[in-house]
Amino acid sequence: MTSLLVTNIGELVTWDDERPVIRDAALVVEHGHVTWVGDRTAGPDADAVRDVGGAAVIPGFVDSHTHLVFAGDRAAEFEARMSGRPYEAGGIRTTVAATRAATDEQLAANVARHLAQMRAQGTTTVEIKSGYGLTVRDEARSLAIARQATEETTFLGAHVVPEGTEVVAYVDLVTGAMLEACAPYARWIDVFCEEGAFGADEARTVLEAGIAAGLQARVHANQLGPGPGIQVAAEVGAAAADHCTFLDDADVAALADSGVVAGLLPGVEFSTRSPYPDARRLIDAGVTIALATDCNPGSSYTSSMPFCIALAVREMGMTPLEALWSATRGGAFSLRRDDVGHLAVGARADLVVLDAPSHVHLAYRPGVPLATPLTT
Ligand code: NIG
Ligand code: FE
Repeated sequence: MTSLLVTNIGELVTWDDERPVIRDAALVVEHGHVTWVGDRTAGPDADAVRDVGGAAVIPGFVDSHTHLVFAGDRAAEFEARMSGRPYEAGGIRTTVAATRAATDEQLAANVARHLAQMRAQGTTTVEIKSGYGLTVRDEARSLAIARQATEETTFLGAHVVPEGTEVVAYVDLVTGAMLEACAPYARWIDVFCEEGAFGADEARTVLEAGIAAGLQARVHANQLGPGPGIQVAAEVGAAAADHCTFLDDADVAALADSGVVAGLLPGVEFSTRSPYPDARRLIDAGVTIALATDCNPGSSYTSSMPFCIALAVREMGMTPLEALWSATRGGAFSLRRDDVGHLAVGARADLVVLDAPSHVHLAYRPGVPLATPLTT
């Protein structure tokens, strides 16, 4: 079979400039790519036909921020938080210990399990970070395992300073032997720029070393309080500054002027009982927003992009269409990808069918498994 006509699409979201959303639509897939999009009544002949019965079809979600290489969980920490304990960056060390103790096979099985959950909820492109190894060996094996699952791998040796290590010595290690061992498996370099993790100068040093080694930058910024993360991201030309929970006017202006994508991760605010970032303020300032899960056992143990869309709409001032854009096309921008996150002609045929007539149902029916990838 070389061509497949997907037809009787109640609402097709393409994000094409001309017709971003088409009602009563059809689409043709050939060799894994979209080759035709238009009105159902104009659908061309094809080798095979799939009738989706009036369902909505959207681009697969692009989850541009996850930490899937880990072992263990932190349910007890979550439980304590729900009784009033605050979230602290230091909790990362609990997962570091469990991750170091796990075998490669256990870590790879965990990644596969979470990826399967993600796919079952409509995610077709995933970024995966290291950051729970924090030794040369454990960061390199984390990235080698991540690389088996996705091309979008991120070296996050600068996640937190490991116990018993001095920050200057650790930054030297991250930018020296660790970077050398990890760069072959990574596309991106990331740093947690935050009180309790790495300051502005350290973050800049880490990102610049990664860039010099051929990686592209992304930053964990302004999650737990105001700070320099956004400014550092703009200075080094990062693709994305993720979290963006505590922003001042200069941060918003820096995002808008630099074109750095703001990654919003509402699963974190949900599971740390924190105030949500103000997406409306960012959109009004002209900032590009990506929505992602941040799937990790500490601050956001969800693998569900539809859940994040529902939170973004209910809690962050986004419309359902804006949230869907940020979960697909916005994620692709965050990863500097043009082949995913949309369904215009030429895009990868990552089609997701909703058990619903329109994308609005993603937020309108939270927690309901509506999104399923179409196997072509
Ligand atoms: O993106 N902020 C830093 N890293 C993760 C949390 C990691 C953890 O708590 O284990 C995040 O929220
Ligand atoms: Fe994160």
